[in-house]
Amino acid sequence: MAAAKTLWYCSNCGNESPKWMGRCPACGEWNTMVEAPVEKKSAGKGSKAVAGVGRGERKPLKLKEIDRSKEPRLQLGMPELDRLLGGGIVPGSLVLIGGEPGIGKSTLSLQIPLVSGLRTLYVTGEESARQVKMRADRLGAEVEDTSIFTETRMESILEEAEVIKPELMIVDSVQTMFTETVESTPGSVSQIKEVAAMLLRFAKESGIPVILIGHITKDGYIAGPKILEHIVDVVLQFEGENRGAYRILRSIKNRFGSTSEIAVFEMTGTGLREVANPSEMLIPMHEAGLSGAAICATLDGTRPLLFEVQALVSSAVYGTAQRSATGFDTRRLNMLLAVLEKRAGFHLSAKDVFLNMAGGLKVSDPAADLAVIAAVLSSNFDYSLPGDSCFAGEVGLSGEIRPVANTDRRIGEAARLGFKRIYVSSFTPLGEQLPKEIKIVKVADVPALVKALFKNA
Ligand code: TYD
Ligand code: MG
Repeated sequence: MAAAKTLWYCSNCGNESPKWMGRCPACGEWNTMVEAPVEKKSAGKGSKAVAGVGRGERKPLKLKEIDRSKEPRLQLGMPELDRLLGGGIVPGSLVLIGGEPGIGKSTLSLQIPLVSGLRTLYVTGEESARQVKMRADRLGAEVEDTSIFTETRMESILEEAEVIKPELMIVDSVQTMFTETVESTPGSVSQIKEVAAMLLRFAKESGIPVILIGHITKDGYIAGPKILEHIVDVVLQFEGENRGAYRILRSIKNRFGSTSEIAVFEMTGTGLREVANPSEMLIPMHEAGLSGAAICATLDGTRPLLFEVQALVSSAVYGTAQRSATGFDTRRLNMLLAVLEKRAGFHLSAKDVFLNMAGGLKVSDPAADLAVIAAVLSSNFDYSLPGDSCFAGEVGLSGEIRPVANTDRRIGEAARLGFKRIYVSSFTPLGEQLPKEIKIVKVADVPALVKALFKNA
Protein backbone atom coordinates (compact mmCIF):
# COMPACT_ATOMS: atom_id res chain seq x y z
CA MET A 1 0.00 0.00 0.00
CA ALA A 2 1.25 3.45 -0.82
CA ALA A 3 1.99 5.67 2.14
CA ALA A 4 -0.90 7.98 3.03
CA LYS A 5 -0.38 11.37 1.45
CA THR A 6 -0.29 14.33 3.73
CA LEU A 7 -0.27 18.07 3.29
CA TRP A 8 0.85 20.83 5.61
CA TYR A 9 -1.56 23.58 6.58
CA CYS A 10 -1.00 26.83 8.40
CA SER A 11 -3.27 26.75 11.44
CA ASN A 12 -3.49 30.51 11.38
CA CYS A 13 -4.54 31.23 7.80
CA GLY A 14 -5.12 27.80 6.24
CA ASN A 15 -2.39 28.13 3.62
CA GLU A 16 -1.50 24.76 2.08
CA SER A 17 2.01 23.53 1.45
CA PRO A 18 3.43 20.20 0.30
CA LYS A 19 6.18 20.38 2.92
CA TRP A 20 6.73 21.68 6.41
CA MET A 21 7.92 25.25 6.81
CA GLY A 22 8.97 27.15 9.90
CA ARG A 23 7.21 30.26 8.79
CA CYS A 24 4.01 30.46 6.81
CA PRO A 25 4.78 32.36 3.60
CA ALA A 26 1.18 33.60 3.37
CA CYS A 27 0.56 35.16 6.77
CA GLY A 28 4.10 35.31 8.14
CA GLU A 29 3.32 33.47 11.41
CA TRP A 30 6.00 31.21 12.85
CA ASN A 31 5.50 27.61 13.87
CA THR A 32 1.94 27.28 12.67
CA MET A 33 2.27 24.53 10.05
CA VAL A 34 0.40 21.37 11.00
CA GLU A 35 0.27 18.11 9.10
CA ALA A 36 -3.03 16.71 7.87
CA PRO A 37 -3.94 13.85 5.56
CA VAL A 38 -5.16 14.82 2.14
CA GLU A 39 -8.95 14.88 2.28
CA LYS A 40 -10.54 11.95 0.56
CA LYS A 41 -12.91 12.97 -2.16
CA SER A 42 -15.79 10.62 -1.40
CA ALA A 43 -18.34 12.26 -3.63
CA GLY A 44 -21.74 11.21 -2.29
CA LYS A 45 -20.72 10.45 1.25
CA GLY A 46 -20.51 13.95 2.62
CA SER A 47 -23.80 15.09 1.20
CA LYS A 48 -25.70 11.93 2.06
CA ALA A 49 -26.78 13.17 5.43
CA VAL A 50 -27.97 16.44 3.96
CA ALA A 51 -31.63 17.02 3.37
CA GLY A 52 -33.26 18.38 0.28
CA VAL A 53 -32.70 18.24 -3.41
CA GLY A 54 -30.21 16.08 -5.24
CA ARG A 55 -27.66 17.50 -7.66
CA GLY A 56 -29.38 17.16 -11.01
CA GLU A 57 -32.60 18.86 -9.96
CA ARG A 58 -31.15 22.33 -9.77
CA LYS A 59 -31.10 24.42 -12.91
CA PRO A 60 -29.51 27.77 -13.69
CA LEU A 61 -32.00 30.61 -13.49
CA LYS A 62 -32.32 33.74 -15.61
CA LEU A 63 -31.48 36.75 -13.50
CA LYS A 64 -34.89 38.29 -14.21
CA GLU A 65 -36.66 35.10 -13.13
CA ILE A 66 -35.20 35.26 -9.65
CA ASP A 67 -37.64 36.34 -7.00
CA ARG A 68 -36.61 39.84 -6.02
CA SER A 69 -38.72 40.08 -2.86
CA LYS A 70 -36.64 40.99 0.10
CA GLU A 71 -34.62 38.31 1.85
CA PRO A 72 -36.78 37.35 4.83
CA ARG A 73 -34.89 37.58 8.08
CA LEU A 74 -35.35 36.03 11.49
CA GLN A 75 -35.06 38.37 14.44
CA LEU A 76 -32.78 37.08 17.17
CA GLY A 77 -34.44 39.27 19.76
CA MET A 78 -31.28 41.23 20.55
CA PRO A 79 -31.53 44.54 18.66
CA GLU A 80 -27.80 45.23 18.55
CA LEU A 81 -26.99 41.74 17.31
CA ASP A 82 -29.74 41.93 14.69
CA ARG A 83 -28.37 45.26 13.52
CA LEU A 84 -24.88 43.77 13.24
CA LEU A 85 -26.22 40.97 11.06
CA GLY A 86 -27.87 43.55 8.81
CA GLY A 87 -31.39 43.31 10.25
CA GLY A 88 -31.64 39.75 11.58
CA ILE A 89 -30.26 36.41 10.51
CA VAL A 90 -30.88 35.28 6.93
CA PRO A 91 -32.47 31.82 6.58
CA GLY A 92 -29.99 29.33 5.22
CA SER A 93 -26.96 31.35 6.21
CA LEU A 94 -23.93 30.14 8.14
CA VAL A 95 -22.72 32.60 10.76
CA LEU A 96 -19.38 32.12 12.47
CA ILE A 97 -18.85 33.66 15.91
CA GLY A 98 -15.17 33.66 16.84
CA GLY A 99 -13.26 34.72 19.91
CA GLU A 100 -10.85 33.68 22.59
CA PRO A 101 -11.94 31.12 25.19
CA GLY A 102 -13.94 32.62 28.03
CA ILE A 103 -14.99 35.75 26.19
CA GLY A 104 -18.68 34.84 26.08
CA LYS A 105 -19.39 32.94 22.85
CA SER A 106 -21.36 30.17 24.54
CA THR A 107 -23.19 32.67 26.72
CA LEU A 108 -24.29 34.71 23.72
CA SER A 109 -25.30 31.68 21.69
CA LEU A 110 -27.42 30.30 24.52
CA GLN A 111 -29.03 33.68 25.09
CA ILE A 112 -30.23 33.81 21.48
CA PRO A 113 -32.82 30.99 21.76
CA LEU A 114 -33.83 32.25 25.19
CA VAL A 115 -34.70 35.76 24.11
CA SER A 116 -35.80 35.08 20.53
CA GLY A 117 -38.10 32.17 21.35
CA LEU A 118 -36.99 30.44 18.13
CA ARG A 119 -37.22 26.66 18.12
CA THR A 120 -33.53 25.89 18.37
CA LEU A 121 -31.28 22.89 18.21
CA TYR A 122 -28.32 23.71 20.40
CA VAL A 123 -25.46 21.31 19.74
CA THR A 124 -22.61 21.38 22.18
CA GLY A 125 -19.43 19.39 22.09
CA GLU A 126 -17.91 21.28 24.97
CA GLU A 127 -20.30 21.08 27.87
CA SER A 128 -22.68 18.52 29.34
CA ALA A 129 -26.41 19.03 29.05
CA ARG A 130 -26.50 19.80 32.79
CA GLN A 131 -23.88 22.50 32.42
CA VAL A 132 -25.93 24.10 29.69
CA LYS A 133 -29.04 23.87 31.83
CA MET A 134 -27.22 25.53 34.73
CA ARG A 135 -26.09 28.31 32.45
CA ALA A 136 -29.60 28.78 31.11
CA ASP A 137 -30.89 29.03 34.69
CA ARG A 138 -28.26 31.65 35.36
CA LEU A 139 -29.40 33.59 32.33
CA GLY A 140 -32.79 33.58 33.99
CA ALA A 141 -35.06 32.39 31.21
CA GLU A 142 -37.10 29.27 30.65
CA VAL A 143 -35.82 27.18 27.75
CA GLU A 144 -39.13 26.50 26.10
CA ASP A 145 -38.48 25.16 22.68
CA THR A 146 -34.77 24.54 22.72
CA SER A 147 -33.27 21.09 22.41
CA ILE A 148 -29.82 20.56 23.83
CA PHE A 149 -27.81 17.94 22.00
CA THR A 150 -24.43 16.84 23.33
CA GLU A 151 -22.87 15.28 20.28
CA THR A 152 -19.74 15.77 18.23
CA ARG A 153 -20.32 13.47 15.27
CA MET A 154 -21.59 15.55 12.37
CA GLU A 155 -23.49 12.72 10.72
CA SER A 156 -25.66 12.20 13.84
CA ILE A 157 -26.14 15.94 14.27
CA LEU A 158 -27.43 16.49 10.76
CA GLU A 159 -29.72 13.45 10.97
CA GLU A 160 -31.16 14.74 14.23
CA ALA A 161 -31.58 18.21 12.75
CA GLU A 162 -33.64 16.75 9.93
CA VAL A 163 -35.95 15.12 12.45
CA ILE A 164 -36.35 18.13 14.72
CA LYS A 165 -36.45 20.68 11.87
CA PRO A 166 -35.47 23.59 14.10
CA GLU A 167 -35.83 27.24 13.13
CA LEU A 168 -32.23 27.83 14.20
CA MET A 169 -29.25 25.61 14.80
CA ILE A 170 -26.28 26.50 16.98
CA VAL A 171 -23.06 24.46 16.98
CA ASP A 172 -20.59 25.03 19.82
CA SER A 173 -17.77 24.67 18.74
CA VAL A 174 -16.32 23.85 15.32
CA GLN A 175 -13.14 22.58 16.94
CA THR A 176 -14.92 19.78 18.82
CA MET A 177 -16.92 18.45 15.87
CA PHE A 178 -15.79 15.70 13.54
CA THR A 179 -16.99 13.86 10.49
CA GLU A 180 -16.27 10.25 9.60
CA THR A 181 -15.35 11.15 6.05
CA VAL A 182 -12.10 12.69 7.24
CA GLU A 183 -9.56 10.67 9.16
CA SER A 184 -7.74 13.26 11.22
CA THR A 185 -8.61 14.24 14.79
CA PRO A 186 -11.26 16.85 15.70
CA GLY A 187 -9.83 20.34 15.59
CA SER A 188 -7.42 19.62 12.74
CA VAL A 189 -7.51 21.78 9.65
CA SER A 190 -9.10 19.19 7.40
CA GLN A 191 -11.79 18.33 9.99
CA ILE A 192 -12.65 21.97 10.55
CA LYS A 193 -12.92 22.66 6.83
CA GLU A 194 -15.11 19.61 6.20
CA VAL A 195 -17.36 20.23 9.22
CA ALA A 196 -17.95 23.79 8.08
CA ALA A 197 -18.61 22.68 4.52
CA MET A 198 -21.19 20.15 5.75
CA LEU A 199 -22.92 22.77 7.85
CA LEU A 200 -22.94 25.19 4.94
CA ARG A 201 -24.55 22.59 2.69
CA PHE A 202 -27.06 21.76 5.39
CA ALA A 203 -27.96 25.42 5.91
CA LYS A 204 -28.30 26.17 2.20
CA GLU A 205 -30.40 23.13 1.45
CA SER A 206 -32.67 23.20 4.49
CA GLY A 207 -32.99 26.97 4.81
CA ILE A 208 -32.19 26.70 8.51
CA PRO A 209 -29.72 29.35 9.68
CA VAL A 210 -26.71 27.93 11.50
CA ILE A 211 -24.58 29.73 14.07
CA LEU A 212 -21.15 28.17 14.39
CA ILE A 213 -18.83 28.95 17.29
CA GLY A 214 -15.06 28.93 16.76
CA HIS A 215 -12.23 29.43 19.24
CA ILE A 216 -9.31 31.61 18.45
CA THR A 217 -6.07 30.95 20.25
CA LYS A 218 -3.06 33.19 20.14
CA ASP A 219 -0.49 30.40 19.91
CA GLY A 220 -2.10 29.00 16.76
CA TYR A 221 -2.08 25.50 18.23
CA ILE A 222 -5.71 24.92 17.39
CA ALA A 223 -6.62 25.63 13.81
CA GLY A 224 -8.41 28.94 13.99
CA PRO A 225 -11.63 30.22 12.46
CA LYS A 226 -9.50 32.24 10.02
CA ILE A 227 -9.40 29.27 7.68
CA LEU A 228 -13.22 29.29 7.68
CA GLU A 229 -13.66 32.91 6.77
CA HIS A 230 -14.10 32.26 3.08
CA ILE A 231 -16.53 29.37 3.63
CA VAL A 232 -19.10 31.00 5.90
CA ASP A 233 -21.50 33.83 5.05
CA VAL A 234 -20.96 36.01 8.09
CA VAL A 235 -18.04 36.29 10.50
CA LEU A 236 -18.58 38.00 13.85
CA GLN A 237 -15.63 38.30 16.15
CA PHE A 238 -15.52 38.99 19.86
CA GLU A 239 -12.86 41.42 21.02
CA GLY A 240 -12.02 42.92 24.35
CA GLU A 241 -10.34 42.13 27.58
CA ASN A 242 -11.54 38.89 29.12
CA ARG A 243 -11.16 40.40 32.54
CA GLY A 244 -13.04 43.58 31.77
CA ALA A 245 -16.80 43.61 31.58
CA TYR A 246 -17.15 44.98 28.04
CA ARG A 247 -16.97 42.92 24.90
CA ILE A 248 -17.09 44.15 21.35
CA LEU A 249 -18.63 42.00 18.66
CA ARG A 250 -17.36 43.07 15.26
CA SER A 251 -18.61 41.97 11.85
CA ILE A 252 -15.57 41.09 9.78
CA LYS A 253 -17.46 39.65 6.86
CA ASN A 254 -21.13 39.85 5.99
CA ARG A 255 -22.65 38.71 2.74
CA PHE A 256 -25.97 40.24 3.78
CA GLY A 257 -24.96 43.51 5.37
CA SER A 258 -22.14 45.93 5.94
CA THR A 259 -18.87 45.01 7.60
CA SER A 260 -16.78 46.66 10.28
CA GLU A 261 -19.95 47.38 12.24
CA ILE A 262 -19.73 46.72 15.94
CA ALA A 263 -22.08 45.88 18.80
CA VAL A 264 -21.03 46.32 22.40
CA PHE A 265 -22.00 43.96 25.20
CA GLU A 266 -21.47 44.00 28.92
CA MET A 267 -20.91 40.72 30.75
CA THR A 268 -23.12 40.74 33.84
CA GLY A 269 -23.98 38.14 36.45
CA THR A 270 -26.95 37.16 34.33
CA GLY A 271 -25.42 37.01 30.89
CA LEU A 272 -24.51 39.53 28.24
CA ARG A 273 -26.33 42.83 28.19
CA GLU A 274 -26.43 44.93 25.05
CA VAL A 275 -24.96 48.40 25.38
CA ALA A 276 -27.00 50.49 23.00
CA ASN A 277 -24.91 53.59 23.55
CA PRO A 278 -21.28 52.49 23.56
CA SER A 279 -19.74 55.96 23.73
CA GLU A 280 -21.13 56.46 27.18
CA MET A 281 -19.22 53.59 28.71
CA LEU A 282 -15.90 54.36 27.04
CA ILE A 283 -15.69 57.92 28.27
CA PRO A 284 -13.51 58.71 31.30
CA MET A 285 -14.02 56.95 34.55
CA HIS A 286 -11.69 59.21 36.50
CA GLU A 287 -11.98 62.74 37.77
CA ALA A 288 -11.49 65.56 35.34
CA GLY A 289 -8.13 67.28 35.40
CA LEU A 290 -5.78 64.36 34.83
CA SER A 291 -3.08 64.95 32.29
CA GLY A 292 -2.41 62.58 29.41
CA ALA A 293 -6.00 61.95 28.40
CA ALA A 294 -7.80 63.07 25.26
CA ILE A 295 -11.14 62.03 23.83
CA CYS A 296 -11.19 60.77 20.29
CA ALA A 297 -14.25 60.78 18.02
CA THR A 298 -13.85 57.72 15.81
CA LEU A 299 -16.17 55.96 13.49
CA ASP A 300 -16.45 52.22 13.69
CA GLY A 301 -18.20 51.11 10.57
CA THR A 302 -20.97 53.65 10.32
CA ARG A 303 -21.27 54.13 14.04
CA PRO A 304 -19.58 57.02 15.78
CA LEU A 305 -17.76 56.07 18.94
CA LEU A 306 -16.13 58.37 21.43
CA PHE A 307 -13.49 57.03 23.75
CA GLU A 308 -10.48 58.08 25.73
CA VAL A 309 -6.90 57.92 24.51
CA GLN A 310 -4.43 57.76 27.41
CA ALA A 311 -0.74 58.57 27.20
CA LEU A 312 2.06 58.53 29.70
CA VAL A 313 5.30 60.32 28.89
CA SER A 314 8.13 59.96 31.38
CA SER A 315 11.92 60.21 31.41
CA ALA A 316 13.51 57.04 30.08
CA VAL A 317 14.90 54.84 32.83
CA TYR A 318 17.19 52.89 30.54
CA GLY A 319 19.39 54.16 27.75
CA THR A 320 16.91 53.66 24.95
CA ALA A 321 13.45 55.05 25.36
CA GLN A 322 10.53 52.61 25.32
CA ARG A 323 7.52 53.03 23.07
CA SER A 324 4.55 50.90 23.75
CA ALA A 325 0.99 51.09 22.52
CA THR A 326 -2.06 49.05 23.48
CA GLY A 327 -4.88 49.02 20.95
CA PHE A 328 -2.95 51.27 18.58
CA ASP A 329 -0.27 50.57 15.96
CA THR A 330 3.16 51.11 17.53
CA ARG A 331 4.67 52.10 14.19
CA ARG A 332 2.04 54.77 13.79
CA LEU A 333 2.82 56.03 17.30
CA ASN A 334 6.50 56.24 16.35
CA MET A 335 5.58 58.16 13.25
CA LEU A 336 3.48 60.64 15.21
CA LEU A 337 6.32 61.13 17.70
CA ALA A 338 8.71 61.77 14.81
CA VAL A 339 6.30 64.37 13.42
CA LEU A 340 6.16 66.05 16.84
CA GLU A 341 9.94 66.12 16.94
CA LYS A 342 10.56 67.34 13.39
CA ARG A 343 7.60 69.65 12.80
CA ALA A 344 6.88 71.02 16.25
CA GLY A 345 10.26 70.81 17.95
CA PHE A 346 9.42 68.43 20.81
CA HIS A 347 12.35 66.28 21.85
CA LEU A 348 10.69 63.12 23.01
CA SER A 349 13.54 60.81 22.04
CA ALA A 350 14.80 60.61 25.61
CA LYS A 351 11.32 59.89 26.98
CA ASP A 352 9.37 56.68 27.45
CA VAL A 353 5.97 56.92 25.78
CA PHE A 354 3.10 54.60 26.67
CA LEU A 355 -0.21 54.75 24.91
CA ASN A 356 -3.47 53.04 25.74
CA MET A 357 -6.90 53.02 24.13
CA ALA A 358 -9.40 52.83 26.97
CA GLY A 359 -11.89 49.99 27.18
CA GLY A 360 -9.66 47.43 25.44
CA LEU A 361 -10.48 48.90 22.05
CA LYS A 362 -8.33 48.30 19.02
CA VAL A 363 -8.30 51.42 16.92
CA SER A 364 -7.31 51.64 13.28
CA ASP A 365 -9.25 54.78 12.35
CA PRO A 366 -6.70 57.43 11.28
CA ALA A 367 -8.88 60.03 13.02
CA ALA A 368 -7.31 58.89 16.30
CA ASP A 369 -4.00 60.61 15.38
CA LEU A 370 -5.06 63.99 16.65
CA ALA A 371 -6.19 62.66 20.03
CA VAL A 372 -2.95 60.65 20.33
CA ILE A 373 -0.86 63.78 19.77
CA ALA A 374 -3.01 65.76 22.18
CA ALA A 375 -2.73 63.06 24.86
CA VAL A 376 1.04 62.69 24.44
CA LEU A 377 1.59 66.45 24.70
CA SER A 378 -0.80 66.72 27.62
CA SER A 379 1.23 64.14 29.53
CA ASN A 380 4.50 65.70 28.42
CA PHE A 381 3.49 69.12 29.77
CA ASP A 382 1.60 67.56 32.67
CA TYR A 383 -1.21 69.87 31.68
CA SER A 384 -4.73 68.49 31.54
CA LEU A 385 -7.02 69.10 28.60
CA PRO A 386 -10.55 70.35 29.20
CA GLY A 387 -12.87 67.37 29.65
CA ASP A 388 -15.45 68.78 27.25
CA SER A 389 -13.13 68.74 24.21
CA CYS A 390 -12.66 65.98 21.68
CA PHE A 391 -10.61 65.35 18.55
CA ALA A 392 -10.98 63.89 15.06
CA GLY A 393 -8.20 64.28 12.54
CA GLU A 394 -5.44 62.46 10.73
CA VAL A 395 -1.86 63.72 10.98
CA GLY A 396 0.35 63.65 7.89
CA LEU A 397 4.12 63.40 7.68
CA SER A 398 4.61 67.11 7.20
CA GLY A 399 2.61 67.79 10.34
CA GLU A 400 -0.52 68.82 8.48
CA ILE A 401 -3.89 67.83 9.91
CA ARG A 402 -5.98 66.07 7.34
CA PRO A 403 -9.75 65.72 7.21
CA VAL A 404 -11.35 62.36 8.02
CA ALA A 405 -14.41 60.64 6.62
CA ASN A 406 -17.87 61.55 7.90
CA THR A 407 -16.75 64.37 10.16
CA ASP A 408 -20.36 65.57 10.41
CA ARG A 409 -21.45 62.37 12.11
CA ARG A 410 -18.59 62.53 14.58
CA ILE A 411 -19.54 66.11 15.40
CA GLY A 412 -23.16 65.09 15.82
CA GLU A 413 -22.31 62.29 18.25
CA ALA A 414 -19.95 64.53 20.23
CA ALA A 415 -22.66 67.17 20.55
CA ARG A 416 -25.20 64.56 21.63
CA LEU A 417 -22.88 63.42 24.39
CA GLY A 418 -22.52 66.97 25.65
CA PHE A 419 -19.08 67.90 24.34
CA LYS A 420 -18.57 71.62 23.90
CA ARG A 421 -15.60 71.64 21.55
CA ILE A 422 -14.25 69.42 18.77
CA TYR A 423 -10.92 69.86 16.99
CA VAL A 424 -10.92 68.96 13.31
CA SER A 425 -8.82 69.69 10.22
CA SER A 426 -9.09 73.15 8.64
CA PHE A 427 -9.65 71.41 5.35
CA THR A 428 -12.76 69.54 6.48
CA PRO A 429 -15.75 70.06 4.22
CA LEU A 430 -18.63 70.54 6.61
CA GLY A 431 -22.35 70.18 5.97
CA GLU A 432 -24.96 72.85 6.55
CA GLN A 433 -26.81 71.43 9.49
CA LEU A 434 -24.36 71.20 12.30
CA PRO A 435 -25.35 71.23 15.93
CA LYS A 436 -25.14 74.70 17.48
CA GLU A 437 -24.16 73.50 20.97
CA ILE A 438 -20.66 72.47 19.98
CA LYS A 439 -17.80 74.71 18.90
CA ILE A 440 -15.87 73.39 15.91
CA VAL A 441 -12.22 74.37 16.19
CA LYS A 442 -10.36 74.06 12.91
CA VAL A 443 -6.62 73.47 13.05
CA ALA A 444 -4.31 73.28 10.04
CA ASP A 445 -1.20 71.63 11.44
CA VAL A 446 0.46 70.31 14.57
CA PRO A 447 2.03 73.64 15.64
CA ALA A 448 -1.42 75.25 15.37
CA LEU A 449 -2.87 72.51 17.56
CA VAL A 450 -0.13 72.99 20.14
CA LYS A 451 -0.85 76.72 20.18
CA ALA A 452 -4.58 76.19 20.54
CA LEU A 453 -4.29 73.67 23.37
CA PHE A 454 -1.21 74.50 25.37
CA LYS A 455 -0.67 78.23 25.23
CA ASN A 456 -0.95 78.38 29.00
CA ALA A 457 1.13 75.28 29.67
P1 TYD B 1 -18.39 31.49 27.98
O1 TYD B 1 -19.61 32.06 27.36
O2 TYD B 1 -18.43 30.05 28.33
O3 TYD B 1 -17.15 31.79 27.03
P2 TYD B 1 -16.72 31.05 25.69
O4 TYD B 1 -17.82 30.17 25.24
O5 TYD B 1 -16.42 32.18 24.75
O6 TYD B 1 -15.46 30.29 26.01
O7 TYD B 1 -18.04 32.24 29.35
C1 TYD B 1 -17.72 33.55 29.49
C2 TYD B 1 -17.35 33.96 30.88
O8 TYD B 1 -18.39 34.76 31.39
C3 TYD B 1 -17.12 32.84 31.87
O9 TYD B 1 -15.86 33.05 32.47
C4 TYD B 1 -18.19 33.03 32.92
C5 TYD B 1 -18.71 34.40 32.70
N1 TYD B 1 -20.17 34.56 32.85
C6 TYD B 1 -20.67 35.67 33.53
O10 TYD B 1 -19.91 36.52 34.01
N2 TYD B 1 -22.03 35.83 33.65
C7 TYD B 1 -22.91 34.93 33.12
O11 TYD B 1 -24.13 35.11 33.23
C8 TYD B 1 -22.38 33.79 32.43
C9 TYD B 1 -23.31 32.77 31.84
C10 TYD B 1 -21.02 33.65 32.31
MG1 MG C 1 -17.81 28.04 25.24
